[in-house]
Amino acid sequence: MGLYNFEFQIKTKIKFGKNKIEELNDSLKSFGAKRIMLIVDQGIIEAGLIDKIEKILKKSDLDYFIFDQVKPDPTIEIVNSGVRFLLNNNINALVAVGGGSPIDTAKAIRASFSKRELAEKITADKLPLITIPTTSGSGSEVTKAIVIKDENTKKKFAVANENLAPDISIVDPVMTKTLPPYLTAVGGMDALSHCIESYTSHEAVLPFEMIATKGIEMVKKYLRPAVGNGNNMEARAGMSLASLFGGISLSNCGLGLVHAISHPLGGQFNIPHGLANSMILPYVMEFNIIANPAKYANIARLFGVNIDNMTEMEAAYKAVKEVEKIKKDIGLDYSLDDFGVDKFEFIAELALKEKLMLKSNPRSIEKEDIIKILRRAY
Ligand SMILES: [Fe+2]
Repeated sequence: MGLYNFEFQIKTKIKFGKNKIEELNDSLKSFGAKRIMLIVDQGIIEAGLIDKIEKILKKSDLDYFIFDQVKPDPTIEIVNSGVRFLLNNNINALVAVGGGSPIDTAKAIRASFSKRELAEKITADKLPLITIPTTSGSGSEVTKAIVIKDENTKKKFAVANENLAPDISIVDPVMTKTLPPYLTAVGGMDALSHCIESYTSHEAVLPFEMIATKGIEMVKKYLRPAVGNGNNMEARAGMSLASLFGGISLSNCGLGLVHAISHPLGGQFNIPHGLANSMILPYVMEFNIIANPAKYANIARLFGVNIDNMTEMEAAYKAVKEVEKIKKDIGLDYSLDDFGVDKFEFIAELALKEKLMLKSNPRSIEKEDIIKILRRAY
């Protein structure tokens, strides 16, 4: 029904390709930027990726200031300290380098800043934001969403707003080359979750279904080889695209029950986001199948299963099996008991509060359904 009734807009300009990072200075100058805030975490510094960015910036007359306090889950406190840093250094453009955490932190810093009265210290009304992903998974490089953690309550909350979308995303697969196999695997399962959830979302519409299904194909073809050999640039580029496609699709069609459950798993038990998704994904797929078997059958086809002689339901369940095979092959065959997660009632209650995630899930959900899914994943 919704297929032919939609709005199509991608707010972020995407510059994709090998060595596109060399265009960073031109992109910054297109905004008239002079004083740049680089938002990174320690991992980016340790991996030497910041050196690469600094080398490029030094070719220009731009001044840059490094904010390296980003932690794996962006917190309100770190966002506030980023806003202070921005004001103290008279910043007029933001560049986020890293995975979902530095990018979400940068988006939140910009959003918090724009509400402040101190804006007269800054030349631009709205600071331009450029994202440079160094992982493939979160899709945050191109989404209008952020996930922030409140350290007092340990709750993660997602916010979506058009104004959060970055202005430019420079997606250079070379920047993901040093990502270790485990993080490649975890990110890849996040990207796959985004593509599957947004494709099967009951808010999905045709243009984004096309993008999400292409993302599923990319994961099928490239996640295993990217985990197997990080120097395989074709696989790295494929996973960069999967992340991007997942991000574009989720921004417009929403997510679902996988993310509603994985947010409390991350917030309360510190399970990395992509890993939490991968533990839950097959069981949520099983649960959701009856709401739209044709789509799950198509996912099986995208995974390369010959579904010609199967009923739609048989084919749909094959999609679940394929996801389980990928998890096993890339070394993410974990269950909730490996992480001591057993407060199912508590997690289910928190998951039910994830309204932004749940509103697009294809099947309606009750608390008991979530508890059953958690038991399956245990
Ligand atoms: Fe995600």
